[in-house]
Amino acid sequence: MPTQVQQSKTIATLTHDGKTLELPILKGSEGELAVDIEKLRSSTGLITMDPGYGNTGSCRSAITFIDGEQGILRYRGYPIEELAAHSSFLEVAWLLMNGDLPSHAKLTAFEREVKLHTMLHENFHRFFEALPKDAHPMPVCAAAVGALATFYQEPETDRNVHDAVVRLIAKIPTIAAYSYKHSIGQPFMFPQNRLDYASNFLHMMFATPCEEYVPDPVIARILDLLLILHADHEQNCSTSTVRMVGSSRANLFASIAAGISALWGPLHGGANQQVIEMLERIATEEGSAEKFLARAKDRNDTTRLMGFGHRVYKSYDPRAAIVKQACAEVVQRVGVSSNLLEIALRLEEIALRDDYFVSRKLYPNVDFYSGVIYKALGIPTNMFTVMFVLGRMPGWIAQWSEMRGDPEFRIARPRQIYTGATRRPYVPIDMRG
Ligand code: CMC
Repeated sequence: MPTQVQQSKTIATLTHDGKTLELPILKGSEGELAVDIEKLRSSTGLITMDPGYGNTGSCRSAITFIDGEQGILRYRGYPIEELAAHSSFLEVAWLLMNGDLPSHAKLTAFEREVKLHTMLHENFHRFFEALPKDAHPMPVCAAAVGALATFYQEPETDRNVHDAVVRLIAKIPTIAAYSYKHSIGQPFMFPQNRLDYASNFLHMMFATPCEEYVPDPVIARILDLLLILHADHEQNCSTSTVRMVGSSRANLFASIAAGISALWGPLHGGANQQVIEMLERIATEEGSAEKFLARAKDRNDTTRLMGFGHRVYKSYDPRAAIVKQACAEVVQRVGVSSNLLEIALRLEEIALRDDYFVSRKLYPNVDFYSGVIYKALGIPTNMFTVMFVLGRMPGWIAQWSEMRGDPEFRIARPRQIYTGATRRPYVPIDMRG
């Protein structure tokens, strides 16, 4: 007998094999609805199938709200546009991890605490030395964050988790900058406590012991803005990975290291590197934006318009709108050629008039313009996704902590529909064909 699902206001019913099961409807604070299938398998023997999890809620979360149809993104209720205009990255980090905006005193104390943990253990010098010069900084960051777990092995008390949180926020810019300095053969620059978070990162990236380096406050503010925009994005691939790994009670460092690896992929955080490489290819080889778009639309060609499309946003990604605005400002400020920005603007203009992109609701995502800014700031292309790591760190931490504090917390363990061979007897090796 076919299976039918009906939904009333608070209950959906599912009929299968002559039996009817009532499934509660859950409602979020923004009115979004979910069918609770917790009792489905034990009552009916059925599981659900949802490749890519496009219809599956994996948790209840009070951290980030996204309405992909309306292009809305809020952290703890605060619109991203307001946070981008008025907040700082460390304030947003506090907000995500603690649920509310901090008082002046709490923010100052948090900023101070972060500053006191920015240095890496001296043994890290040997860690970097052991890696090849051309090592991509993403696996370097994942390995370094995993390695932090070997330096801080205390049992998981509230105090020790707090220290791990501060250490991760404080040390990730140092890890990122050292991986860059290692790749270009320059000495590591110690963090500077007199500088704010973004300026300190610029200092560790671009200063040398030979000359004084004064970070540009306008550039530092734009970097801080980019970190705010990347700080959380609810249950995406890397965040779900952090939760999944953490659900086995793996420690925070190990869980975040896994999240960094998930973020590296070109369909996720790796897209910002791919975007700039695409723009450069168009500038040098492909000839024109029109020609490239024709390839991106061709089903027989694997080319995609990188930085376009999103699983959740079916309208303009609100983060992309903010980054686009910042782009022109940066290009002008640092006085570099705006060639890549012009190609990006042209691609967007044509794509948003093209039925292929319009009918599939494909709009620029956060990665479309962020690479142009990083490039203008002199950040090497293979470091772009590392910038995403810096921004996403507080979001991963907030999601990990929320999961661990959830009374419904269980180890994550999806099911499957098995499609392999049915039972067959073992064949001794001499008797195989
Ligand atoms: N260029 C050309 N066609 C596209 C693109 C694109 N960038 N994105 C989606 N499509 C097409 C896709 O071919 C499919 O067409 P059809 O229906 O004819 O088969 C349709 O649009 C739906 O695409 P999908 O791959 O089923 O959508 P998805 O939700 O599984 O994938 C995505 C979302 C972000 C992986 C995808 O849009 C994509 O690959 N974009 C380019 C990579 C990118 O920019 N990633 C960064 C995402 S935002 C930052 C982050 O959160 O990581």
